[in-house]
Amino acid sequence: MKKTIIVTGGAGFIGSNFIFHMLKKYTDYRIICLDCLTYAGNLSTLMPVMDNTNFRFVKESITDRDAVYKLFEEENPDIIVNFAAESHVDRSIHNPEVFLDTNIKGTAVLMDACRKYGIQRCHQVSTDEVYGDLPLDRPDLFFTEDTPIHTSSPYSSSKASADLLVLAYHRTYNLPVTISRCSNNYGPYHFPEKLIPLMIANALNDRPLPVYGEGLNVRDWLYVEDHCKAIDLIIHQGRIGEVYNIGGHNEMRNIDIVKIICKELGKPESLITYVTDRKGHDMRYAIDPTKIHNELGWLPETKFADGIKKTIQWYLDNKEWWETIISGEYQNYYKKMYGNR
Ligand code: NAD
Ligand code: TYD
Repeated sequence: MKKTIIVTGGAGFIGSNFIFHMLKKYTDYRIICLDCLTYAGNLSTLMPVMDNTNFRFVKESITDRDAVYKLFEEENPDIIVNFAAESHVDRSIHNPEVFLDTNIKGTAVLMDACRKYGIQRCHQVSTDEVYGDLPLDRPDLFFTEDTPIHTSSPYSSSKASADLLVLAYHRTYNLPVTISRCSNNYGPYHFPEKLIPLMIANALNDRPLPVYGEGLNVRDWLYVEDHCKAIDLIIHQGRIGEVYNIGGHNEMRNIDIVKIICKELGKPESLITYVTDRKGHDMRYAIDPTKIHNELGWLPETKFADGIKKTIQWYLDNKEWWETIISGEYQNYYKKMYGNR
């Protein structure tokens, strides 16, 4: 059946991949991207779908109550999927405030709009970082949906706060919500401040590859398309009021990822530079995806060995996309983050 879906944050990494997935799969759905285009939002990413008559782009902030209410009046959405967020841990350590505004207050504004105008499904895209971290010497431990919230950074705290609000709106107002908590994503259109695209861009420019601490921290990497497919399943078939963890049991140490990138690009490992560790750096993330597998039949489809090759090839084929990004304001960011490390 035809549906209208508002996708917030759709000019960013995962949101744009989700829009491409949805427009391709559901040719009768109307998709509206609501994005205020922060440094992480890129309109050029959405160029391939701008002329699609089933797509509309609206440049507004999720924190702007009037703008959000107006959009709900105009579009009368069936579903909203909230990707809009400040998403980088390092930036949250330098300046937490905007994380509280966007990630917490913005989420509340969206849910207020859902209450006011009605909605079939309000889906919150969250993160495994709300569970804090796991020790390296306990490979038997994984995050389940029942793992207590125990955050480390201003970023993860803001996402956890939003999750608690979403669950409270369900219990108090009976809002039809779902939440997904995914592990680290990688793939096309990933902003080059995050580990994998930053290392690819630096390696291609023969610049140092700044590994925090000893590079032993472990992340559970998932190809972005697999995340999008999981959200697609949850918004259509997930049980209301439920949290679903998403991850593909692909734990890897940062240093090993960086070495793979060097190898794939034919660059020397001597580019690797160990720099001062991130404050409060989480050691290990590892998702137990049993619930989404058992209830919705979801399984990751892309193996890391293939996904990383596809990702690297995408950055080689789309140099203009990331070179434009790293030639602007990004230079100031880079000096501030890495200058004295
Ligand atoms: P991103 O930083 O690439 O994109 C965020 C997008 O949100 C940008 O287009 C930005 O312009 C937009 N945005 C920011 N503030 C806004 C506001 N006030 N109003 C409207 N739009 C705004 O982020 P991402 O990596 O694509 O992450 C998307 C979501 O997925 C986030 O909620 C993040 O917490 C979550 N998540 C990310 C990962 C990951 O590995 N990247 C993993 C799990 C969960
Ligand atoms: P990141 O991509 O920022 O994701 P997150 O912090 O949300 O997991 O970082 C992934 C891992 O890579 C994390 O352990 C920090 C590390 N890292 C580096 O070692 N060097 C870098 O320049 C960056 C950006 C990250």
